[in-house]
Amino acid sequence: MKVEDVKKIAVMGAGDMGHGIAEVALLAGYKVAMRDIEQRFVDKGLSRIRESLAKLVEKQKVTADNQKAMLANITTFVDIAESVKDADFVIEAVPEIMDLKKQVFQALDKAAPKHAILASNTSNMSVTEIAAATKRPEQVVGMHFFNPAVLMKLVEVIKGGKTSEETMQVAYNLALKMNKAPVRVEKDSIGFVYNRIQAPTAVLLDLILEKREAAPMEIDAKMRKLGMPMGPYELMDYVGLDVAYHSALYFAEKLSKDYAPPSWLKAKIDAGTLGKKTGKGIFDWSKGRPEIDLSKAKEDFDPAWLIALQVNEATKLLEGGVVRSAEEIDKAIVNGGGSMFGPFQLGKSIGYDKLAKMCEDLAKKYGIKSFEPTETLKKGKI
Ligand code: 3HC
Repeated sequence: MKVEDVKKIAVMGAGDMGHGIAEVALLAGYKVAMRDIEQRFVDKGLSRIRESLAKLVEKQKVTADNQKAMLANITTFVDIAESVKDADFVIEAVPEIMDLKKQVFQALDKAAPKHAILASNTSNMSVTEIAAATKRPEQVVGMHFFNPAVLMKLVEVIKGGKTSEETMQVAYNLALKMNKAPVRVEKDSIGFVYNRIQAPTAVLLDLILEKREAAPMEIDAKMRKLGMPMGPYELMDYVGLDVAYHSALYFAEKLSKDYAPPSWLKAKIDAGTLGKKTGKGIFDWSKGRPEIDLSKAKEDFDPAWLIALQVNEATKLLEGGVVRSAEEIDKAIVNGGGSMFGPFQLGKSIGYDKLAKMCEDLAKKYGIKSFEPTETLKKGKI
């Protein structure tokens, strides 16, 4: 199969990621089927696509005619088999629960045409394990978009244990057709590139709150002063504390207990305060984006600690052959979030020896083994 053979894309899930991916596919000129488990979820996803397209028309990025054509190109479904019966490419964006993903892939395998490629937008989970629920594992691939999908450029294209090169190429070229910046992930590994590199920084940020070393506003103000479009705690709320919580559980199970969710995060989940989507999380979102008071910046919080942890984690990916080069990692980080530079670009300018020392100090201070510097970072030969 070639990317030119893809005419219709089906998206499973109409939530934050599903509706965004469906919109990206429409913007690239594809016919789209969007499916969720209840009509009200599908309706909500469709109205979010309408709102977002209206914004793009307002900003003259899309013409009114084009908007009309795109809305005529989308069909919505509740029945999974109906939604994929004539799809060439399927992208699953259901919640991050492995058993649920497996059930969905089993159903997709039965109902989708034989030639169709089945992609998962999983943030962290094993593509190989998901693919094993089907009889076509060579046609199963990871295709990880970032939130908001319509604006973020990165798509991680992940090779599962049995994914064929042909499937990788179609997914990669499809991401290019969607005007995205794809990065190949050569080995199926927890958190892939972007989320894996952010994971130790999330542990540090969790510990800072847990130990009451700073308030979220103080850290976010510091990062915003440095030019980040969102501070890290606002971003957690934006993506969803439930997403952060489930990722932490998965990392803790598969990688190290260092990643286990902190008690403050568990308390937020139990209280149902999940961030932007519920109107309250770490910050109050009831009146829109939280106001971050830049005068509250915690000046003795050193952002180089975050860079040190990112570079260190990134060297683990290079050591493990998960991604081909440091440049690819920088490309992923720049295009997946709001950073202007990748960790290696920043790390090189600070000095790898200094970063290794920071990792050592942080590992000792917090008792987190995963923060210890790798041999690659200690040698600085990157
Ligand atoms: N559709 C169309 N346009 C949109 C939009 C949407 N869904 N959302 C925002 N916009 C537009 C706004 O209208 C605005 O346009 P304007 O500049 O012409 O007025 C522009 O985008 C900027 O939006 P805002 O003014 O509301 O706010 P910001 O300038 O802060 O931009 C943001 C918002 C793009 C979300 C920016 O804050 C950002 O880049 N944040 C970081 C996001 C990030 O890091 N994402 C990765 C999360 S991790 C992840 O997804 C992994 C997964 O596995 C969980």
